Amino acid sequence: MEEALTTWLEVDLGAIQHNYRLLQTISRRPVMAVIKANAYGHGISGVVPALIRAGADWCGVARIEEALDVRRFGSEIRVLVLGYTNPGWVDEAIARDIRFTVFDPATAEAYAMRAQALGRVLRVHIKVDTGMGRLGVLPDEAVEFVRWVTGLRGLEVEGLYTHFARADESDPGPTLEQIRRFDEVVHALTTLGLRPRWVHASNSAAIFNFPQARYDLVRAGIALYGLHPSPETPLPTGFRPAMTLKARLISLKILPPGSGVGYGHRYVTRGRERIGVVAAGYADGMRRVLGNEVLIRGQRVPVLGTPCMDQIIIQLDGVKEAVPGDEVVIFGCQGGACISVEEVAQRWGTINYEVATSMMARLPRIYIEPRNEENG
Ligand SMILES: Cc1ncc(COP(=O)(O)O)c(C=O)c1O
Repeated sequence: MEEALTTWLEVDLGAIQHNYRLLQTISRRPVMAVIKANAYGHGISGVVPALIRAGADWCGVARIEEALDVRRFGSEIRVLVLGYTNPGWVDEAIARDIRFTVFDPATAEAYAMRAQALGRVLRVHIKVDTGMGRLGVLPDEAVEFVRWVTGLRGLEVEGLYTHFARADESDPGPTLEQIRRFDEVVHALTTLGLRPRWVHASNSAAIFNFPQARYDLVRAGIALYGLHPSPETPLPTGFRPAMTLKARLISLKILPPGSGVGYGHRYVTRGRERIGVVAAGYADGMRRVLGNEVLIRGQRVPVLGTPCMDQIIIQLDGVKEAVPGDEVVIFGCQGGACISVEEVAQRWGTINYEVATSMMARLPRIYIEPRNEENG
């Protein structure tokens, strides 16, 4: 199958399972696998079954459509929608055992009304904004809000959570302040007998940097995929990146000196040069910038000019043995050489999260199944 492909994403499911178990070991908590945005680009259809085989019993998505997608590949995992959901989806959510996030009274009431009309119960997690400035009730209002939602027929308050804005930075101050605010809410609720069963806060960076904020559950995204939370919070040793972007060399020729290469002739040959064309471009998720590099036959070679929509042009004077059909790695490892997602992100002026999640839908995801010893 792979031999016939020209451009694809290889996803190492064994690496994801390994990283998942490592996160369980480090946090000593159940790990909610954050698999929004098509499992950070890795593909829900492969990642969800692999996580379930590794023992995952929680996952988090951004939207209801993603939650329904998860249900196509696994019925035995709890799914929490981390973003907003229109009340029109309550029937479907209850039928498929999907949890919603609640952070405002009008929406909570609409969820409750619909659940009551069905004679059923919707499980919800209440979000507190302790300093992200995004979704959530403010700490001052949180205790009263939890009390009120708990009293609504049709809703079961199963969880309470917050999200950190700066847990990946070297200054712990802002996160410690968020933890302090969240702790205050949790303690007040405990005193009142209103503490929900699942209290959670930590993203990947916080799992490593703030062990005191692990509560009942941690939510891991980027680390699950073997990618570093940030330069200030690199992964501990042992994590393995899961994603490799590959394409084939589809043409090879010698151009005479002074030939313009690609749109805008951003490169002009200096002498007789061996020029290769590779079937990957910005419509696969690359960025249209100068200075890209790729691996072929285990060697780094420069990309000439800027990527086109579906192709890049590479310089092969240093790799005489290259032939059409050769595998080219845009990021990942080949023959001992590696180009990390982080390196590419820096070149593209962004972060690894954006690189992974911007891998386009047209790329087939080829799943590498774990070796036997990893499956146990
Ligand atoms: C609410 C929430 N929790 C957890 C995560 C996972 O974060 P990370 O990928 O940094 O582990 C995200 C991702 O952005 C999120 O939005």
